[in-house]
Amino acid sequence: MMKIIIAGGSGFIGRYLAEYLSTSGYEVIVLSRNPQRAEAAFSKNITCLLWDDFNTSAWQDALESSEVVINLIGENVGQWPWTDQIKHKILFSRLHAGQTIVQAIHKANNKPRLLIQTSATGYYGNNNKDELTEDSAAGSGFLADVCRQWEYSTNEVESMGMNRSIIRIGLVLGRQGGLLKKTMFPFKLFVGGPVGSGDQMLPWIHRDDLIAAIRFIIESKHPKKLYNTCAPNPVTMNTFAQILGKTLKRPSVFRVPELIVKLIFGEMGRETILSGQNAVPKTLMDAGYKFKYTTLTEALSDLVTQ
Ligand SMILES: NC(=O)c1ccc[n+]([C@@H]2O[C@H](COP(=O)([O-])OP(=O)(O)OC[C@H]3O[C@@H](n4cnc5c(N)ncnc54)[C@H](OP(=O)(O)O)[C@@H]3O)[C@@H](O)[C@H]2O)c1
Repeated sequence: MMKIIIAGGSGFIGRYLAEYLSTSGYEVIVLSRNPQRAEAAFSKNITCLLWDDFNTSAWQDALESSEVVINLIGENVGQWPWTDQIKHKILFSRLHAGQTIVQAIHKANNKPRLLIQTSATGYYGNNNKDELTEDSAAGSGFLADVCRQWEYSTNEVESMGMNRSIIRIGLVLGRQGGLLKKTMFPFKLFVGGPVGSGDQMLPWIHRDDLIAAIRFIIESKHPKKLYNTCAPNPVTMNTFAQILGKTLKRPSVFRVPELIVKLIFGEMGRETILSGQNAVPKTLMDAGYKFKYTTLTEALSDLVTQ
């Protein structure tokens, strides 16, 4: 049975990914700072081991017999205000995790064949006009800088003879948590609507497609270096709010002005809710990955009617 290690596998994406890979026939090991708590939330065939910053002793043995490592670790970027201390945590949680994984792989006698390194479509900065494929240039701003350094943090494994695939994840839509839960709240109270100008592009992806795309990469004979993991039809914030309102059978007329977002959330609001990327999953499409949810209407109908 192929063994897969998921660092940061206890969160919104990782816990679904771990269960999905486990039921798909893989042996899954999750690394967490609190392995007891993480293991209690999983089915019994998933093992959780201690992630202890730079000390890799708890999982070094497991690494020797693993074929794939997936690195999802990162402090939540939605914390605000973005004080210097929070920004430091957002950046260094990612860089330290990358460095630790590189060190552990360096020490291993039997190296895995593939590292899947997380990044985000925020790599492209705020760019709503150009169609952004994996070849597009990095943007500017704090999050774009974080993504660039985050991607680079595990670069060294390529010189150890391993494949490395970077997944630039879009806005993940799933039940229980994530952005959708927060966004639905005002709509349910009949005060929902778009935020800011509404022209910002949202490169959304249904969580089921994200985890299936990760499996697709794992099972690819020749995994590529860069993947935009977002659905093929990104929408503007205005369209997102309209479709969400329609799906929930609620109005979508209460626009939150840009100025209010800037006043309340500052730099964090500017770089997340008010920023967009017109990103498309060119590598996945070219490689033949078939999205289950290609339109936002299909994705939201699945997620909000449950
Ligand atoms: N959700 C999205 O829409 C989205 C979009 C683009 C990119 N991403 C990226 O994808 C990754 C996973 O996202 P997610 O939504 O599943 O995030 P999440 O729910 O916050 O989970 C992240 C996991 O990383 C671990 N972690 C957090 N801070 C850490 C630290 N300082 N040191 C060590 N481990 C730490 C946590 O595990 P323990 O507490 O168990 O140790 C946590 O379960 C993140 O890096 C995120 O930035 C997510």
